Amino acid sequence: MDKIKAEIEQLRETLHQHNKAYYVDAKPSISDFEFDQLLKKLESLEKTYPEFNDPNSPTQRVGSDQSNAFETVAHQFPMLSLGNTYSKEELQAFFERVNKSLEEPVEYVCELKYDGVAISLTYENGAFKRAVTRGDGTKGDDVSANVKTISSIPLKLYANKIPSSFEVRGEIIMTKAAFMAYNKQRIAEGLEPTKNPRNTAAGTVKLKDSREVAKRELDCFLYSVHSEQSMFESHWMALQEIGNWGFKLSPYSQKCKNTKEVFDFIDHWEKEKLNLPFEIDGIVIKVNSYEQQEQLGFTAKAPRWAISYKYETEQQSTKLLSVTYQVGRTGAVTPVANLEPVELAGTTVKRASLHNADQIALHDLHENDVVFVEKGGEIIPKVVGVDLSHRESNAKPIQFIHSCPECGGELIRKEGEAAHYCINESACPPQIKGKIEHFISRKAMDIEGMGPETIDLLYQQGLVRNIADLYDLTKENLLPLERIGEKSAENIIAGIEVSKQIEFPRVLYALGIRFVGETVAKKLAKAKPSIDSLMQSSKEELVEIDEIGERIAESLIEFLNDEENQSVIQRLKESGLQLEWTVEEENSEQLFSNQRIVISGVFQDFERKELKELIERLGGNLSSSISAKTSFILAGENMGPAKLEKAKKLGVRLCSEEEFKQMIAGIE
Ligand code: IVH
Repeated sequence: MDKIKAEIEQLRETLHQHNKAYYVDAKPSISDFEFDQLLKKLESLEKTYPEFNDPNSPTQRVGSDQSNAFETVAHQFPMLSLGNTYSKEELQAFFERVNKSLEEPVEYVCELKYDGVAISLTYENGAFKRAVTRGDGTKGDDVSANVKTISSIPLKLYANKIPSSFEVRGEIIMTKAAFMAYNKQRIAEGLEPTKNPRNTAAGTVKLKDSREVAKRELDCFLYSVHSEQSMFESHWMALQEIGNWGFKLSPYSQKCKNTKEVFDFIDHWEKEKLNLPFEIDGIVIKVNSYEQQEQLGFTAKAPRWAISYKYETEQQSTKLLSVTYQVGRTGAVTPVANLEPVELAGTTVKRASLHNADQIALHDLHENDVVFVEKGGEIIPKVVGVDLSHRESNAKPIQFIHSCPECGGELIRKEGEAAHYCINESACPPQIKGKIEHFISRKAMDIEGMGPETIDLLYQQGLVRNIADLYDLTKENLLPLERIGEKSAENIIAGIEVSKQIEFPRVLYALGIRFVGETVAKKLAKAKPSIDSLMQSSKEELVEIDEIGERIAESLIEFLNDEENQSVIQRLKESGLQLEWTVEEENSEQLFSNQRIVISGVFQDFERKELKELIERLGGNLSSSISAKTSFILAGENMGPAKLEKAKKLGVRLCSEEEFKQMIAGIE
């Protein structure tokens, strides 16, 4: 038993170290694949030996489906706010106040003001203890389960001289890339995109399901350390030291000898902030010396030794030329303002989003108005207001359209929703094409070689009008199309053929039912493992499924009751798509899926044939020769020396019969 405990602990430490190398130091020490192998091994050992559980195990990073309770926790040291200014004169006045109080040279530390959510992290005896939101400054919510999924936050610290208990504070952020990816997925699922990375990060930290948090790729920048005993002389030293403890440091902070260097830092980042991978809303300037900080003290709300300098969001005014309307895959109609081109934060803006009819009404937009535009969260420009002084006296108000600009179909607005929808789902070209694009996309049916242009061509030729038509396509249909040669036609047909093997949950997701994203599709398929059983389910039955609410249930029923959808589904069935799922298949997804395994030697408790069957049943691929791609060798007794040598050379792990038994213990 002690041996197993030691092995589990060793695995955990190894994984923590590799995690740090990747997320904190940005110097990966092993491949993702190898990391996953070790993690899987740890997972399986933990499953077999729950008595050795550790809430800070690397396996905890994926989150769990236990609903978060968010207990309220008092902050040991209050979480204050910062005084702020938008003007250099006021900043100069801050420096003068500091100089007057201290009457000695002052060094400053300049940091970026990360635009996210503040978080307090407590560590005890070198291990993560708890993460609490700022709340009202004196008490906040315990969001530990969610924060533990953020890979750059260490769960264990491996360094000497760490105080037995301390707190670090920082800002949880969502990078621009993670934000874009998240919204792309939302749009694909027929949901409204979220507003900006900050709101999305804040919403994510408070999610009930930490597995969902894990998927959203949050990050964290730390900006202060607090503990009972005073450990450092200055803020800068503290920042460097926590870097040695295992925390990720911001490479953007700078120690400034004088106020000129501070102003230079501000000017530098005002221009460069657009090139950062995340959003900032200003700069934080802090007196470096802790002794000087103490002398300056606090006001009721904020320290006197720090201030934030905020950047104005750049705004421009330009003329509204027209409003046009885009129709998406779900039929949602988005108004777009076409503008006289204007330079804004480094790019020329010609179009800006108006979001929905409410926004047009809110600004009381009129023809030929002069509008103010901003880059919404630095990414998508948006109209934020109207310069009324330029409005012509006879200007007509902009009226939201009543029929679809693409197909002339009727537009409706469902109660409680901001967007208008074209209801002509089965005959509105962008909806049809969008649905097919979604169907063939990577996470859905993954049909390669077919992009939006091909779909457009197929649609124009009348060859494809719904997803079932794809399965009737022949190579001869494709060849006459522009830019499709012999080879690509063959590839497309092969891709379509292969997609017939895609498992039911992905097919369900691919159907493009509103509100049925990847996760929901999996949940539904687990509870109702065939399209027929879903079709037979009542709303009451559907809402009983874990995490399926009324909105999803209604959307499903509407989709499945539609006659045209029913005929498409029938044709998909006839084409041989996987419209049901057996539990056995689901099991096989787990333990050894995507693993290449070599069996060698003789075994005490298994026949070789038995082992082969077992591994295959659990999703593994067997191979007879060892290569760099081998996941592990199941090594019995008398394994040949040549094989041993090769395994050693390629660094392939050997798994003993005993270990193998532990791996499969919970499953068989
Ligand atoms: S120091 C007592 N440093 O800004 C001062 N705050 O307006 C503690 N923030 O709630 C804050 N980046 O969440 C500090 N580099 C940085 C920061 C930063 C962002 C946030 C923080 C705080 C808010 C204050």
